[in-house]
Amino acid sequence: MPSKRQILVTNALPYANAALHLGHILEYTQTDVWVRFQKMRGHECYYVSADDAHGTAIMLKADEKGISAEEHIAHMRAIHEADFRDFLIGVDNYHSTHSEENREFSELIYNRLKANDHIAQRSITQAFDPEKNLFLADRYVKGACPKCKADDQYGDNCEACGATYSPVDLINPISVISGATPIGKESVHYFFKLPEFTEFLKEWVSRGTVQKEVANKLGEWLDSGLQEWDISRDAPYFGFEIPDAPGKYFYVWLDAPIGYMASFKNLCDRDGLDFDHFWKKDSPTELYHFIGKDIVNFHALFWPAMLKSAEYRTPTKICVHGFVTVNGKKMSKSRGTFINARCYLDHLNPEYLRYYYASKLSGTIEDIDLNLEDFIQKVNSDLVGKVVNIASRCAKFIANGNDGVLSSTIENPELWAQVSGAADTIANHYENRDYGKAIREIMAQADAANEYIAAKEPWKLNKDESQQQSVQDICSLGINLFRLLLTYLKPVLPAMTEAGEAFLNDNLTWDSVKHPLVEHKINPFKPLMQRIEKERVDAMVEASKEDLAKETAKPISGPLADEPLADEIGFDDFIKVDLRVALIVSANHVEGADKLLQLNLDIGGEMRQVFSGIKSSYDPADLEGRLTVMVANLAPRKMRFGMSEGMVLAAADKQGIYLLEPDSGAQPGQRVT
Ligand code: 2FM
Ligand code: ZN
Repeated sequence: MPSKRQILVTNALPYANAALHLGHILEYTQTDVWVRFQKMRGHECYYVSADDAHGTAIMLKADEKGISAEEHIAHMRAIHEADFRDFLIGVDNYHSTHSEENREFSELIYNRLKANDHIAQRSITQAFDPEKNLFLADRYVKGACPKCKADDQYGDNCEACGATYSPVDLINPISVISGATPIGKESVHYFFKLPEFTEFLKEWVSRGTVQKEVANKLGEWLDSGLQEWDISRDAPYFGFEIPDAPGKYFYVWLDAPIGYMASFKNLCDRDGLDFDHFWKKDSPTELYHFIGKDIVNFHALFWPAMLKSAEYRTPTKICVHGFVTVNGKKMSKSRGTFINARCYLDHLNPEYLRYYYASKLSGTIEDIDLNLEDFIQKVNSDLVGKVVNIASRCAKFIANGNDGVLSSTIENPELWAQVSGAADTIANHYENRDYGKAIREIMAQADAANEYIAAKEPWKLNKDESQQQSVQDICSLGINLFRLLLTYLKPVLPAMTEAGEAFLNDNLTWDSVKHPLVEHKINPFKPLMQRIEKERVDAMVEASKEDLAKETAKPISGPLADEPLADEIGFDDFIKVDLRVALIVSANHVEGADKLLQLNLDIGGEMRQVFSGIKSSYDPADLEGRLTVMVANLAPRKMRFGMSEGMVLAAADKQGIYLLEPDSGAQPGQRVT
C-alpha cells in the first residue's frame, strides 16, 4: 500500500433552490464510496461539501415564497443536509457558499486576480426587465427565433433550428419573470482574462488531471480559442458585492468553487487542521473534485486558471461522471421517474441504491441507467442471495456447536488465499473509480464462497455426531469469507457493514483481509438486509407522480405551497370535531405569558375558559363582544395558568393572526359544519 496520503475531496455543491434527486445521489455516492475507501486504507482524507447559495434563481425563488434569501437558503440547507445524512453520505463538513469564509476567499482571490492584471472591465449591453428593474440572463428571455421564427425560444439558442444569438435579437421578446418587453441596457462588467491561461491549461490537462474523453473535449475548446469570462452581475443579485464596485456582485460561478475552500476552512477551524498545507501552491496533498459532465468548463478551465493566478494549488483530478437515466430514458416527472431523494428514502433503503449505482459506475463519463427491474433483481440476488446468505447459513452452526467461537484452523486455505488475494485488484478498481469492476470481482468471490458451502453441505454433516468438528471448520471458513466480502463492500454499504461488524465482533479495515479470525467469538446473527419488494418500488414511482400532481395543482407561491394539505380524512372523522359559534364575553392578559390571552367564551348557555396564543395580534379590549368559532369538544388541557377548555380557530402567517368570525346573525352555541 502506498504511504499515507493526504487527500481533500469535494462533490459539486447543490443549488439551494431545489430538492435533491436521484441524479445528485449518483454523484454523492460515487464520491462517498471513494472517500470511505481511502479512509479504510488508512489515508488522511477529508470530504467537504456545501450548498451553492447564490444567484438570480435563488433570489427569485425566495421572492416568490415571500421570504428573505437568507431564510430560503437556511431552509434548503437543512433539507439537503438531511438527505445527505440519510443516504449515508459521510461528509466531514457541510457548509454554505453564503458564508463569511467564502466571502473572504472570494474577495482575496478576486483581489489577487486584479493585482495580477487578470481582470478586464468594459461596458456591455444586456436584456433588461424594465418592470422588475433586473438584468435578464439568457434563460429569462423568450421570444421567436430570429432565424426560423419558431415561437417560445430562449434567449441564447433556438431548439427548433439550432441557431445561436443574443436575447436582444429575439422577435417579440418577453421577460419570463414579468412578461414585460425587455429593453437593451448598458452596464459595466468585470471579466476574467481566461485566454491568458491557454498554455497553462493545455499543460494542466495533459497531466492526467481529467479522463481521456474529457481531455479531448477540453482540447477542442482550448484549440478553438477561449473567451474572457464575465464574472460580475448587476444588482439586484443575491451574492457577494465586488470590492470597490458598488452595485456589482460576483457571478455565482465565481464564488461556487471557492466554496470548496470555504467549507474546508470551516472544517480546519473546527478541527485544528492546517488549511494552507492543503491549498498552498505546490502542496504535497491531493485535491479531487467529483462533478457531472455538464460543468466541466467551470472546473477544468476557469477554476484551475483562477487558482493559478491567485497562487494556490490546482486540483489533482477532476472526476467527471455521466447523467442518470431511469429505465433507459431521461428522468421524467410524468412517468414518475424524476425521483426526489426524500421520496426514495420514504420507500426504500438507501444502501440498495448505493449498491446499484456502485455496480454500474465505471469511472467514465457514460450515463448510468437505473433500470428499476434490474435494480430489484441485482440487489436481491447479490446482496441478500449471495453475501448475507453466507453468514445466515453458517452462523447458526457456530452459535449452536461451539458457543459462537470460530475454529482454530482454516478448512480450505487455498480458498481463503484466493478470496483474500483479491484485495489488491479490488482496491485498484476502487482507486480508479471503476466500482462496477470492483463489485463484479467481489461477487465472483461470493460465488466461490457459496459454491464451497453448497458442496460441503454442512447442514447434512451436522446430522452426524462424528462430523461436528468438520461442520465447525466449514462454517468458520464461511464466516471468514463473509468477513472478507463485507470488508470489500464496506465503502459502499456502511450501515450493513456496521451491523455485520457487530455480528463478527470485529472492526473492518482494508488490512482485515490479511488475517482470518480464528478462535474468535462472534455474536448472534441478525438479518443484515431485507429483500427489495417490488411493491415498494412501484409505490415510489406512484408517489413521484403524485409529487408532480401536487406541484402542478398548487399555486407556485402562497400558504398552500408553504404548508401542503394534510392527509385526506373521511366525513366520519370530520364530524367528530364539534365546532361552535362562541361569543367572547371577556378577554384578559395573562401574567407571565408572552403569547397568550385568556378568553371567556359563551357557547350558548355554557361558559368556557380558553387560553389562546393570539396576543401578538389582538388587544383584549377589541375582542370583547366579538363572535368567533371554537372547537368545543377538545379534551381540556391543564396549562401553567389554568385549564383551557377548547380552542378558538384562527389562521396565521408572519404578518399576523386572523381570528375566524361568522357572519353577523350567527348565535352563540350554533354548530358549525
Ligand atoms: O451545477 C450545479 O448544481 C452547481 N450548483 C454546482 C456548483 S459546483 C461548485 F463549483 F460549487
Ligand atoms: Zn430557429
